[in-house]
Amino acid sequence: MVVIAAGASSRFAAIELARSLGLPFHDRAPPEPALLLVQTDTRLELHDSSSGARLYVEFTAAELRRYRAGGPGGDPLRRALGPGDRDVVDATAGLGGDAVHLAALGYRVTAIERHPIVSALAQDGLRRARAAGLLGENPLWRTGDARVVLPALAPSPAAIYLDPMFPAKRKKSAAVRKEMRLLRLLVADDNDAAALLAGARRVATDRVVVKRPVDAPPLAPGSAASYRGKLVRYDVYRPERHD
Ligand SMILES: C[S@@+](CC[C@H](N)C(=O)[O-])C[C@H]1O[C@@H](n2cnc3c(N)ncnc32)[C@H](O)[C@@H]1O
Repeated sequence: MVVIAAGASSRFAAIELARSLGLPFHDRAPPEPALLLVQTDTRLELHDSSSGARLYVEFTAAELRRYRAGGPGGDPLRRALGPGDRDVVDATAGLGGDAVHLAALGYRVTAIERHPIVSALAQDGLRRARAAGLLGENPLWRTGDARVVLPALAPSPAAIYLDPMFPAKRKKSAAVRKEMRLLRLLVADDNDAAALLAGARRVATDRVVVKRPVDAPPLAPGSAASYRGKLVRYDVYRPERHD
C-alpha cells in the first residue's frame, strides 16, 4: 500500500497522511498492480490498480433523510437498540454507514474502528459531510481496538452495536460487491467477534446488538430478542456482570 497525491493542492495532505499511517508516499503510482490510497484535491480514495476499483465514503442528504424517516413499521435497528437519545457505541464502525445511521436516529454515537486505513476513509467522508452541513459532531470517531477502548469508556454506554465482518454469501448489488471486495482486501473476517461480544456485554448497561445476515447463525447463543429486516437481523444480548 502506498499513498499518492492526485491533484495540484493535495501533495502536502498526502505526505501528512502517509506519515500518520506509517505508509510510504510516492509521487506517482507504481507500475506494478497495487493498492493505492489516493489523496485528491477533494477526498480520500482507495484504488485497486489491478482491477480499477475505487472506494471512498460519501454520505448524502437523501441517505440521511431516509435514515431519519425509518421504514414502514419502524426501523428494526431502532427497535433493537431501544428508545431515546441514549449513548450508543458502534464498536465495529468500518466505513461509518451504520454510525451515521445511528446518529440520524437520534442516538449519541461513539464509533470505534481498528483498521487505520478504513478509519481514515470513514473520517474523510465524515469531514466532507460536516463541511456540507449534513452532520454535526455526532458520531464521534475513534481509531482503536474496541476490546481495549470499551472497558475504558466513562460513563459506560447504554448500548453497544456490533457489525463484524462475516463470510460473504448473500447476494448483493454489483456496486456493493465491488465496495465490499475492496474493503475485504484490507480487512479479513473478524474471527475475534465472539470475544468482542463477550467484552461488550460486560460494558453495556442495557444491551448489545449484533447485526447478522438474516439467515446466518447467531454470533453466540443466548440472545434475548431478534429484529428482522429484509436482508439483516439484529440480535439483542443483555449485559453480563462480573463484579
Ligand atoms: C462489516 S465492517 C462494519 C461496517 C460498518 N457497520 C459500516 O456501516 O460501514 C466490520 C468492521 O469492524 C472492524 N472491527 C472488527 N473488530 C473490531 C474491534 N475489535 N475494534 C474495532 N473495530 C473492529 C473491522 O476492522 C471492520 O472495518
